[in-house]
Amino acid sequence: MTRVFSGIKPSGSVQLGNYLGALQNWVLMQEETDAVYCVVDLHALTVLHDPEELKSSTLSLTQMLMAVGLDPERCILFVQSHVKEHAECAWLMECTAAFGELRRMTQFKDKSTGNDFVSAGLFTYPALQAADILLYDTNQVPVGEDQRQHIELTRDIAIRFNSRFGETFTVPEAVIPSSGARVMDLQHPEKKMSKSEDSPQGTILLLDPPDVIEKKVKRAVTDSDDEVFFDIENKPGVSNLLSILGAATGKTPQEASKGIERYGDLKSATSEAVIELLKPVQEKYFDLADDPAETNRLIAKGAEKAREVASATLSRAQENIGLFKH
Ligand code: AMP
Ligand code: TRP
Repeated sequence: MTRVFSGIKPSGSVQLGNYLGALQNWVLMQEETDAVYCVVDLHALTVLHDPEELKSSTLSLTQMLMAVGLDPERCILFVQSHVKEHAECAWLMECTAAFGELRRMTQFKDKSTGNDFVSAGLFTYPALQAADILLYDTNQVPVGEDQRQHIELTRDIAIRFNSRFGETFTVPEAVIPSSGARVMDLQHPEKKMSKSEDSPQGTILLLDPPDVIEKKVKRAVTDSDDEVFFDIENKPGVSNLLSILGAATGKTPQEASKGIERYGDLKSATSEAVIELLKPVQEKYFDLADDPAETNRLIAKGAEKAREVASATLSRAQENIGLFKH
């Protein structure tokens, strides 16, 4: 069976881009594949953070993943730091990745420019991500478009490791959805929607109540000609709304534009679709949030299942790279 692996950082609230670009796909994939999903708390340490907030975001993100439809009976769902093999394997990856490769990563450039403090972990972040993926003999990695470069690097690391030290890792490929792969900020449609960006009005959070969603969509930036068609270059704001509407209703942006003539109609159709999409997710989330003990039990089981796979792969890699075993 195809092995799928993906991860999401517990750094703030989950936003619509995460859902349409990644999580929707994760839910579909757990049905047909052997899927492993991870809340990557070690990755969240690469930027300045508040320790208490990180703990509570890790728990609430796990609950949100279950609320969107991940079922711990159908997939392995766990927290990265609960499986020590990730940090251990990351060192092997750091020693296989080239400095120049890491320096070329656009996520590193974006997140480091203009910051007073840039951690070494932010630089080696993609090596830890490669460890996450390669530990599970992963075939497919469902992610948003922004992660394509990291998955390419993971492939290069796996190929290099295998050619230097013998067949060890499965070489994975990225799976990027055709619609929803890049949900843009409603206020700045040239930037991707992001929970860590300080654009609260441009970001729809999965826990936003209906009236807030409606307001944010209504105020979304469009342009002045009041014509609805999909053209990312010339109509980025309108095209973003069409992408969101399409992804929320299972259509392409072009299909979603059929029958919509004016911006007002596009905005009300989009906010309605998003509200409908998120209603059951929010209900389930609040149920789960009432019972953290149950979530804890489920993620402990998830870590146990993950460890079983990860430890076998790590042992193989350690053996092949030449670490002496007693
Ligand atoms: P992160 O929140 O950065 O850990 O991202 C988790 C997943 O959501 C990754 O697969 C990202 O590619 C995806 N993602 C994040 N923001 C967006 C966005 N604005 N549009 C599409 N996918 C996104
Ligand atoms: N870097 C990813 C992001 O920013 C999160 C991530 C960490 C990930 N490890 C992963 C995604 C492994 C896929 C597979 O979204």
